[in-house]
Amino acid sequence: MNTLLLNNTANDIDHAATLLKNGGVVAVPTETVYGLAADASDPVAVNKIFTAKQRPNNHPLIVHIHSLAQLEQLTVDVPQAAFLLANAFWPGPLTMLLNKSDAVIEEVNGGLTTVGVRMPDHPVLRALLMQSDLFVAAPSANPHKQLSPTTAQHVFNELQGKIDAVIDGGPCNVGVESTIIDLTPLAQQQPARILRAGPLTATMLSAVLGTPVINYQAHQQQVPGNIAQHYQPKGKLRVAPTAELVTMCQQWPDSTACVAYSDNLINAMHSTGHGHALMPMQADKAKYARALYAALYDLDRQGFAHIWVEQPPQSEAWDDVNDRLSRAGA
Ligand code: TXA
Ligand code: MG
Repeated sequence: MNTLLLNNTANDIDHAATLLKNGGVVAVPTETVYGLAADASDPVAVNKIFTAKQRPNNHPLIVHIHSLAQLEQLTVDVPQAAFLLANAFWPGPLTMLLNKSDAVIEEVNGGLTTVGVRMPDHPVLRALLMQSDLFVAAPSANPHKQLSPTTAQHVFNELQGKIDAVIDGGPCNVGVESTIIDLTPLAQQQPARILRAGPLTATMLSAVLGTPVINYQAHQQQVPGNIAQHYQPKGKLRVAPTAELVTMCQQWPDSTACVAYSDNLINAMHSTGHGHALMPMQADKAKYARALYAALYDLDRQGFAHIWVEQPPQSEAWDDVNDRLSRAGA
């Protein structure tokens, strides 16, 4: 298969819409990471996603929508909380788990009773969703367990020849996957729970809901697809405290990269002559998250066998970054 590289022109978006309507698989930009999209009502098209990614078939996919009218078609018994959150955060990096309607086929949600729904905030994907008027199933556009892509080039390098097209919508602005909140416990008067940490924290979500949101211990949770080993670069990744890495600078090992954000460690790497192994990051969380996957892709491209990452802050705002790094190193 010849994989087309499309741009964000009206013509190319039109072409992508036609590909999707004809059962094709197209990688699309979102504000979080690139997704691998297919028509969510077409089982054959959806199965092509699993084949291209080599993802196990029981791992559920998120359905991407352009309007609340579409949300109501996909779901039943929607709690008021969903509309509060949609109003505050959609379009944006929030996926809500809700009870599914008959419109959701088992190829999409692994036969569960719930469906994950998200209204993404990227002008190209929004145009594509509105133009095609499809429900678009899309996981991150990476081979199973590997790093999520934040540029069209990342996708093209890994999936070229396996998918119909990639639309280049520029680098992703957020850079880590959406927060997943499960709203189904509300029906039993239980708190909503975060199943995957993301850019929107429990504090931000509960402020809108006016009720507590709990951080579910993701690794104890038995949902297919929520696996400890995930988001992995090819180099062996390890997270270590700043002080330990600063000390190691005296004898920095060969073919080991250092992902650092503190001035302390960045200066130590330079002053000991190991600047070539340094991947400097910003201390600002949003900027760090935006650059993280691209940084790891870059280090893989340079062929580092080991990637040592300076331990980020442990505050709630960094939960998503810490979650991804712990899985990348598992
Ligand atoms: O930001 C994002 O969410 C990106 C962009 C492309 O939208 N998508 C994404 O999809 O990260 P994916 O498939 O890589 O990760 C979705 C996660 C998986 O771990 C899957 O198991 C979980 O969401 N998930 C989806 N539907 C679910 C459901 N009904 N119940 C439980 N977990 C679900
Ligand atoms: Mg993924």
